[in-house]
Amino acid sequence: MPITEMPRSKEYLHRIRERLRDDKVSHCIFTAEYLASFSPSLDIDHDEAIAAGLLHDYCRNLKKNELLKQARIFRLPLSDSQIENPALLHGPVAAKICQKQFGISANVYEAIYWHTTGRPALGILGQALYVADFSEPTRKFPEAAKARQQLRVSGFASALLYVAEMKFTFCQMKKVIDPNTQAFLLWLRNQN
Ligand SMILES: [Fe+2]
Ligand SMILES: [Fe+2]
Repeated sequence: MPITEMPRSKEYLHRIRERLRDDKVSHCIFTAEYLASFSPSLDIDHDEAIAAGLLHDYCRNLKKNELLKQARIFRLPLSDSQIENPALLHGPVAAKICQKQFGISANVYEAIYWHTTGRPALGILGQALYVADFSEPTRKFPEAAKARQQLRVSGFASALLYVAEMKFTFCQMKKVIDPNTQAFLLWLRNQN
């Protein structure tokens, strides 16, 4: 089902276009479409899939100081890694702002909040957004194509574990490891 059939998609698109660069808007649209393409097999509501995909990077435009300021305004718990690398806060801050501005559902809120790191016991919409954000079709790195192939050939659980392994490896290379990234991977390994 196309994005435009989601009742609030026009409003969301209009708002993300006001905030984000064209390439980021395009990433959000592809994330929403890709997520919506496999969400029926996971019993995920179509409108929630579109909302999570379109809005997940709503605060990707904010500078480090602004993210820290917003995090303090919303009284978000801050980890050492988030203080060192405030870009990690773009999900949590977006979840809060979208909750306030659009009245998103609890599922969409959770998915947006945790889309960068994941967390143990993350709900299915959050897991699906985590995969779609990493591997939507315009992502250029080879691991994105591998994740899409895993999803097609081996199924969602296998693709999710692969994405979590890859994200953890990337974090190790950048030497920025949020504790939730590692905890999510360990949780997934125990599920499989
Ligand atoms: Fe993001
Ligand atoms: Fe993203």
